Amino acid sequence: MSFRIQPAAPSRPNRCQLFGPGSRPAIFQKMASSAADVINLDIEDSVAPDDKPAARKNIIEAIGDVDWGNKTLSVRINGLDTPYWYRDVVDLLEQASDRLDQIMIPKVGCAGDIYAVDALVTAIETAKGRTRPISFEVIIESAAGIAHVEEIAAASPRMQAMSLGAADFAASMGMQTTGIGGTQEDYYMIREGVKHWSDPWHWAQAAIVAACRTHGVLPVDGPFGDFSDDDGYIAQAKRSATLGMVGKWAIHPKQVALANEVFTPSEQAVAEAREILAAMAKAKAEGAGATVYKGRLVDIASIKQAEVIVKQSELIAGA
Ligand code: COA
Ligand code: MG
Repeated sequence: MSFRIQPAAPSRPNRCQLFGPGSRPAIFQKMASSAADVINLDIEDSVAPDDKPAARKNIIEAIGDVDWGNKTLSVRINGLDTPYWYRDVVDLLEQASDRLDQIMIPKVGCAGDIYAVDALVTAIETAKGRTRPISFEVIIESAAGIAHVEEIAAASPRMQAMSLGAADFAASMGMQTTGIGGTQEDYYMIREGVKHWSDPWHWAQAAIVAACRTHGVLPVDGPFGDFSDDDGYIAQAKRSATLGMVGKWAIHPKQVALANEVFTPSEQAVAEAREILAAMAKAKAEGAGATVYKGRLVDIASIKQAEVIVKQSELIAGA
């Protein structure tokens, strides 16, 4: 371990973030009743420009009126390249109840973007005497965002989570696809005449995980557009979980259970992790730093790997 200890990410479940347009208040109660850990009410790209003021108003009312239980409640504001974002922040912070936990900032490109929102939020919180500080989550969905991903993760103590936004990311990168996440038909390798599909989102996800883990932020996989393709969603989510991400968005309620299933460590995985910890405790008592578990090497690093799974399972069970 470096002299600088890796900070822990926020200790709360973030297996699924369910999105809904602020212009569609009829679904807010359904969102609140869902099994998602995080709710994202949207004023950005699922809301048409003419509907932004009404969406803002709907959201501000619903933050106070709807019973959101113990979910993390987040609002996605408009990007800093639009004329809408400052009004989103001012109205939310001045008018919404303290139940609002988090603001999601889309299309961030550099630490300065976070700094600008932080300055505005801090001024309003102070002026209004708000006692619960708003936390931030961001979407990495541009070439600049991924190029500056580490400074973005480090940009503010308010930072709690970071998602990969596949659609805008693909557009900004000039990727030849209209798919939102998942397998891309033309991204394959060929061996002995047989195609083997590879994962074009992999490097961006890994870069996000590294930036997040360095700075104590939760790494999250973003949307999977084809909500009729459960198997595709599950496969994408499993790859994300394997890379270290803690959850994934749902853009339709049917995706919530899929995300919860994938990002909750299975009983079998937890049992195996506990067995590894027990095997290592026995090895330690016998003065050994390594031992054999089910025919394979386990050593002191295995303790940390097993603890990731056990801690995640305990965090979810305790939520
Ligand atoms: N959250 C909670 N409930 C939702 C919902 C959501 N995001 N989207 C739909 N529902 C409800 C519907 O109201 C319907 O309820 P009912 O059975 O009581 O009538 C049920 O789930 C089935 O909905 P369905 O008819 O399959 O979908 P739809 O055509 O109403 O809406 C979408 C489909 C994709 C337009 C809608 O899910 C949506 O707006 N998703 C979020 C988009 C978004 O926020 N994007 C920004 C992030 S990428
Ligand atoms: Mg986007």
